Amino acid sequence: MPILTRRNLLKTIGVLGVGTAAGAGSFAVWRNRGQNAYRQAVDEFFRPADLTLSDNAKIMREIARFATMAPNSHNTQPWLFELYDSTMTIRADESRRCPAVDPDDHHVFVTLGCAVENATHTARAFGMETSYAFDEPNSAVRLEFSPLTTGGRDQPNPLFDAIPLRQSTRAAFDGQPLTNEELDLLKQAGSSDNVNLTLLTDEKQIESVMELVLEGNRQQMLDPEFVAELKHWIRFSYFEAVKRGDGLFTLTTGNPALPEWAGGSMFDMAYSVESETTKYTQQCRTSAGIAIFTGKDQSQATWVEVGKCFERFALKATSMNVLHSHINQPVEVTVLRSQLADLLGEKEKLPDLVIRFGHGKSLPKSLRRPLDEVISWKS
Ligand SMILES: Cc1cc2nc3c(=O)[nH]c(=O)nc-3n(C[C@H](O)[C@H](O)[C@H](O)COP(=O)(O)O)c2cc1C
Repeated sequence: MPILTRRNLLKTIGVLGVGTAAGAGSFAVWRNRGQNAYRQAVDEFFRPADLTLSDNAKIMREIARFATMAPNSHNTQPWLFELYDSTMTIRADESRRCPAVDPDDHHVFVTLGCAVENATHTARAFGMETSYAFDEPNSAVRLEFSPLTTGGRDQPNPLFDAIPLRQSTRAAFDGQPLTNEELDLLKQAGSSDNVNLTLLTDEKQIESVMELVLEGNRQQMLDPEFVAELKHWIRFSYFEAVKRGDGLFTLTTGNPALPEWAGGSMFDMAYSVESETTKYTQQCRTSAGIAIFTGKDQSQATWVEVGKCFERFALKATSMNVLHSHINQPVEVTVLRSQLADLLGEKEKLPDLVIRFGHGKSLPKSLRRPLDEVISWKS
């Protein structure tokens, strides 16, 4: 996402006519109404789970609502949930693919894995164990819920509590390191037998990954299809963000909200290799470290597992007040993906996700679509 420099903001404000007293007044009214509508929509969607529910259908809905709080590529929410009595199928919504940034769909299946992880913690909070299997022919994940063997509901689970609080924070962090204990906890949360998590905290290593991020960003910005796809998913105004409930709202990237009609020109003015390079350099250099997730192979089932590991990492980080955001350019631009693998000393495997982490201040949350748009009941 581009960053709005002071010069560009002033230009845009000029375009809006906000320079006049009347313009400034109506802009302020528009902004206040928008802020209220946006805050209300966020509070409603991310409300705490109602753990007093006993009706099965309502519990299944609640599990699905918490699953959709998962991180997902470009906030396209490329998932469809089929709910049965004690099972749930999560499949990719192909109409929400992003072929320019994610031609092999690995982000889509990582996204499904993040949703599976959220569903698992939520089911436990309702007293259910989850088993899951990847259904290769249908490219779908099937979850089965059964009562916890201990009976009753799960003990307090900080990862479950973190689900509505987690966010991708695309801001500079405070540059402070994490303790070894914190790093160990993150490493443990984000690894599995099939997924390797590398945590880089050494300044030189961070700079090497940053160079790939900057090069990836440069190549993506020169690709008109990438830029058009990104722009398609950006929401510039509060009202558009609330109406659609998806996409990348400018406020969640540290940029101001603007009327939708002005947003496009703002994007064209502000989006430059220079401004993006400055932004990513600052973001990388203020991070405590970079986490790289590498699955054992390039299959959809493994990408789902990568998503589960990443989401456990993200929830663990959130529970420790550690922020994170994606710098995935090196795994999105094909030639850079193998360069990143070389850098990690991984000859056979390709990395799937690149995440920076550290302490800092959070930003407004990203919205989700209404649950009824993504769930359907099956018998
Ligand atoms: C597989 C995957 C890839 C992502 N890639 C990027 C990325 O390259 N850049 C970025 O800023 N955010 C990226 N994100 C973060 C999403 O944009 C973010 O999850 C979404 O907008 C919802 O916001 P939230 O995580 O704050 O709830 C990615 C998320 C996932 C799951």
